[in-house]
Amino acid sequence: MPVTVVVGAQWGDEGKAKIIDLLAKEHPVVARYQGGHNAGHTVVVGTEKYALQLTPSGVFYDSVTPVIANGVVVDLPTLFNEIDMLTSRGIDCSRLKVSTRAHLIFPWHQSHDAIAEAVRGDDKIGTTLKGIGPAYADKAKRVGVRAGEVADPARFSATVRARCEAENIVITEAGGEPLDVDAVVEQFVALGERLRPYLTDTVNFLHDELAAGTHILLEGAQATFLDLDHGTYPYVTSSNPTAGGACAGTGLGPRDITRVVGITKSYTTRVGAGPFPTELSDATGDKLVDIGREYGTVTGRRRRAGWLDCVMLRHATRLNSLTELALTKLDVLDTFETIRVCVAYRIDGETTTNYPDLSDTLARVEPIYVDLPGWMCDSTAARRPGDLPDAARELIELVEREVGIPVSVIGVGAERDDYVLREA
Ligand code: GDP
Ligand code: IMO
Ligand code: MG
Repeated sequence: MPVTVVVGAQWGDEGKAKIIDLLAKEHPVVARYQGGHNAGHTVVVGTEKYALQLTPSGVFYDSVTPVIANGVVVDLPTLFNEIDMLTSRGIDCSRLKVSTRAHLIFPWHQSHDAIAEAVRGDDKIGTTLKGIGPAYADKAKRVGVRAGEVADPARFSATVRARCEAENIVITEAGGEPLDVDAVVEQFVALGERLRPYLTDTVNFLHDELAAGTHILLEGAQATFLDLDHGTYPYVTSSNPTAGGACAGTGLGPRDITRVVGITKSYTTRVGAGPFPTELSDATGDKLVDIGREYGTVTGRRRRAGWLDCVMLRHATRLNSLTELALTKLDVLDTFETIRVCVAYRIDGETTTNYPDLSDTLARVEPIYVDLPGWMCDSTAARRPGDLPDAARELIELVEREVGIPVSVIGVGAERDDYVLREA
C-alpha cells in the first residue's frame, strides 16, 4: 500500500510539479496536503504550459483522481478559474475531490495579508499576498469557515456575512478599505453552490483507496525551509510543507508513508525575504536567473539565486525522512565553467554541518564550498545516466555522498520527458 510524498527540499519552485507529473503515471490518486494558491506548479506538456495553483499536478492523466485534502486553504475564485482554464484546454477536472474539512480563503484574508506586510515595512516577509497566513491564523483561532459548510447555503450565507462584517471593523481600524459585504456574500454563495459536487470526505476516501491497494501520491507545495516550524522563521509560509504535514494534511498516518522524494534544483533559489547563505549577488547569480528563467510562477517576482547547499539538503533529509532526491534543472548549469557546492558552514570560527536553529544565525554563516569543473556542453538530450557528461555525474555523486541518499531522477529540461532516471 505505497504512499509517496513529494516535498520541496529548498525554498520552493524546485520543479516539484514536473516530478509529480512523472510519478502520477504510477499513482492513481494525487493529493495536495497543505498551502493554497500561493503555490505555482508548472507542467509543460508538448507546446502547452500549465501553471497550477490549487489543482493537484496529477490532473493531466485521466487515470488520476486529484484530491485537495483537508490541510489545504482553498481560494474558491482561483479554484474555479483554474478548473475553467483547464477545461477550456481539454483537461477533464470532473474527478477532482475537495475535502469538506479544508478551510476557505476569503477576501478579508487578502486584506489582512496586505495590511500585515505594510505594517512590517522594511521587515516585510514578501508574502504572495494571497491571504494564506491570515486563513491559517483563523483556522488556529477556530473561527475559520470550512468547505463542508457550503452544504447548508442559508447558514453559509449567514456565516460569511457575520465574518465579513466583523473583519471589516478590524480592516477599517487598521486603515484599510472595508469590503462590500453584500457583494462578498453574493459571490461566495454562488461559489459555494459550484463547490458542492466536488465536496468529499477525503480522509475516508484516501483510507479506502489505501485499503484497496491504490498507490497514493501526496503533493507538497512550498518547501522544507518555508515550513512554519522548521523554516527560516518568520520568513516562512504558514503551513507545514515537511512530510509530517502530509499526515496532518490528509489524515493518513506516518506508517502509511513508504517513500519520500525530496526535490532540489541543481542550484538554489528563493523568492521573498529571509537568509540565504549561498546567495550570489553578482553576474553569476544573474546568469542563473537568466538561464533558469527564475521568475515567480504566481507573482512574477525575480527569484534570488545561488549555489547548491548540501547542509540544507542534509537537514531536509532529516526533517522529512527523505528516501531519495530528484535533482532538477541540471541543464541550467551547462555553461558554467566552475560549479560550487556548499558542504558545510563556518560560524563564529567553527565549522558545522548542522543547520542552525535561528534565522539570525543562518544569516551570519559563511558557506564552505567544494568546486567542481563544469561540463560545458548541452545536457538536455540526455535520457539515460550514460548520456550525462562525466562532470555532471561527478556533481550528482558528490550530492549523494554529502547528503547520504540516492539521486533517483535528474531534470534536464522543462518538458515532460526531459529527465534521466537512475537505477536504485
Ligand atoms: P514547483 O513550484 O516546485 O512545482 O516549481 P515551479 O513550477 O514553480 O518552477 C520550476 C520551473 O522550472 C518551471 O518553469 C518548470 O517548467 C521548470 N523546470 C522544471 N524542471 C526543469 C528542468 O529540469 N530543467 C529546466 N530547465 N526547467 C525545469
Ligand atoms: P511552490 O509550491 C516559492 C514564499 C513567499 C514568501 C513566503 C510566505 O510553487 O514552491 P505566503 O504567501 O505563503 O504567506 O508567503 O513564502 N512562498 C513561496 N516561494 N514557492 C512557493 O510555492 C511559495 N509559496 C510561498 O514568496 O517568501
Ligand atoms: Mg512554484
